[in-house]
Amino acid sequence: MTTFPLAARATEVAARATELSKVYGQGETQVVALDRVTVDFEQARFTAIMGPSGSGKSTLMHCVAGLDSFSSGSVRIGDTELGALKDKQLTRLRRDKIGFIFQAFNLLPTLSALENITLPMDIAGRKPDKEWLNRVIDMVGLSGRLSHRPSQLSGGQQQRVAVARALASQPEIIFGDEPTGNLDSRSGAEVLGFLRNSVREMGQTVVMVTHDPVAAAYADRVVFLADGRIVDEMREPSADAVLDRMKRFDVKGRTS
Ligand SMILES: Nc1ncnc2c1ncn2[C@@H]1O[C@H](COP(=O)(O)OP(=O)(O)O)[C@@H](O)[C@H]1O
Ligand SMILES: [Mg+2]
Repeated sequence: MTTFPLAARATEVAARATELSKVYGQGETQVVALDRVTVDFEQARFTAIMGPSGSGKSTLMHCVAGLDSFSSGSVRIGDTELGALKDKQLTRLRRDKIGFIFQAFNLLPTLSALENITLPMDIAGRKPDKEWLNRVIDMVGLSGRLSHRPSQLSGGQQQRVAVARALASQPEIIFGDEPTGNLDSRSGAEVLGFLRNSVREMGQTVVMVTHDPVAAAYADRVVFLADGRIVDEMREPSADAVLDRMKRFDVKGRTS
């Protein structure tokens, strides 16, 4: 077998949407949230999905992550076609292969930080890899807070628990929808730094929806959505470059 170690790895695809469309409603109230979107999310890379409000960012993430159905086209996570799965299989795929971080931290109030972190694996009946778990907990700086309940933690700390929870099972891909949307800029920067480190140091794949150019600049690549279509992309983004690109969208989201 011919191998192209680095070149091949750099372009391996963790998830792919092909001609993906999502239409809400019918007739006059119909909304085309995604209009034949084709996009790859590369393995061990940090990709940001940017675009004006209503451009379809959350819809794209939810469809690719198997959280929402789509109208046409196809979605692949690794080698698995989501369209071919029954509900139970989809649930299992989400549980075993995908990590989620949402704007609301979604922690269980009665559980400790550590119990929240291991909850998805507990539900799946899987034992966490102790060494990995410790590494993740160390990275997000929660070692001294593991027995705290969410109410005893700041917003930034709670989102660090959610980041650790997503990383703990070493999922094939982590999806975040505005993961820093509820955080002050300092806590947000910390969480984004942890996500970036998980990609750089642990080879994690991360796809993050954001409308914030500063957050997008933590990614390796930004794809821009407008009116349910991919209209541009940028590698090695800076916040200024992303902001400049965003200014070229008018209020309706179209490119000028
Ligand atoms: N459940 C829904 N029912 C009807 N329309 C929806 C629904 N969810 C989203 N939309 C519409 O789809 C479009 C894309 O929404 P969304 O993906 O949430 O955008 P973004 O995350 O970029 O702000 C918007 O026009 C929105 O109003
Ligand atoms: Mg959204």
